[in-house]
Amino acid sequence: ATVSPPTPVATVSQYACQRRTTLENHNKIFTEAFEVLAESYEFNMNEGQCLAFRRAASVLKSLPWAVLSLGATQDLPCLGQHTKKVMEEVLYYGRSFEVDNILSDERFQTLKLFTSVFGVGPKTAEKWYCRGLRSFSDILADRSIHLNRMQQSGFLHYGDISRAVSKAEALSLRNIIDGAVHAITPAAAVALTGGFRRGKEFGHDVDFIVTTPELGKEDRLLLNIIDGLKRQGLLLYCDYQASTFDMAKLPNHRFKAMDNFSKCFLILRLESSQVEGGLHSVEGDSRGWRAVRVDLVSPPLDRYAFALMGWTGSRQFQRDLRRFARAERRMLLDNHALYDKNKKEFLAASTEKDIFAHLGLEYIEPWQRNA
Ligand code: CTP
Ligand code: MN
Ligand code: MN
Ligand code: MN
Repeated sequence: ATVSPPTPVATVSQYACQRRTTLENHNKIFTEAFEVLAESYEFNMNEGQCLAFRRAASVLKSLPWAVLSLGATQDLPCLGQHTKKVMEEVLYYGRSFEVDNILSDERFQTLKLFTSVFGVGPKTAEKWYCRGLRSFSDILADRSIHLNRMQQSGFLHYGDISRAVSKAEALSLRNIIDGAVHAITPAAAVALTGGFRRGKEFGHDVDFIVTTPELGKEDRLLLNIIDGLKRQGLLLYCDYQASTFDMAKLPNHRFKAMDNFSKCFLILRLESSQVEGGLHSVEGDSRGWRAVRVDLVSPPLDRYAFALMGWTGSRQFQRDLRRFARAERRMLLDNHALYDKNKKEFLAASTEKDIFAHLGLEYIEPWQRNA
């Protein structure tokens, strides 16, 4: 009789940067529940538990199979008692009662609504909630509340920018930015990054990296692009941040949302006639245009690979790249640079492949970084 060898089961790494995560999620019923819990912990400023649920969701997203029993999760990393209890509920009842309770909680619902406005973070939302405010009309009617410029634009364009941006709209915006850039200098280049580079069909915004071969001209380039968009009547909102990049500084392994490159957070006017197949939003199309959130970042050319890596995301993938670099390689990585603490030197990279190679990691394609 032939004895079949034991089926080799590939072990799943605790690091997202050692997993290939496509957009095909076989475990949505669990990951959607985990995302609600993570968000709830985020609102309660419990960073540890928030991250634990995001990590657990990320592990399940990477699996090419659906979890059908708790037993199947035995060898998976990052799944603690609490996550398994939630999975058990979902497996047996098709829902998690803990998640249902959160979803029907007034505080959660209100904070979720308020933070859906561009420029409103958890702290501001909490402050408004504590004042007894529960709806947008409550906020807009309260004379004692001062909205900053970003929040004013957030409310003004709420309908448009809370609606997803389609791939076709993103590509149309690339043409527009490309045109603005080449009117300034033919030597500059534009690259689509963020979720669309990872292959997503929809996003909450569109992210671009613009570069010029002349070192030190990054700020100027971005200001010129903004000026060009303004003259075309496309600029609805602009928050420009000049570069504070210091090339001598060591990378910050902490995953903060911000890097020090020259960048701007925009709301642009997108004409229906410029989008193949029209605008994604039905309502917007009857008006002939819609507002879209666009991010532009302009790193010095020698930092392009690090910026592209960081801005391609996903957040969880980038978080784990940094955690892996520090814990497993004694290296510090951020959107600007990679530093080897053993050799006490910066490691240069001109492509993302160089960065993976420095870290001793297999190359992971952008569409496999949907951790
Ligand atoms: N990012 C960053 N610094 C910022 C803003 C964003 O490094 N100041 C990075 C984030 O870490 C993320 C990527 O840029 O990995 C894209 O951010 P974002 O647009 O928020 O997310 P997407 O993955 O593009 O998702 P979506 O489709 O919802 O826009
Ligand atoms: Mn599959
Ligand atoms: Mn994005
Ligand atoms: Mn963005």
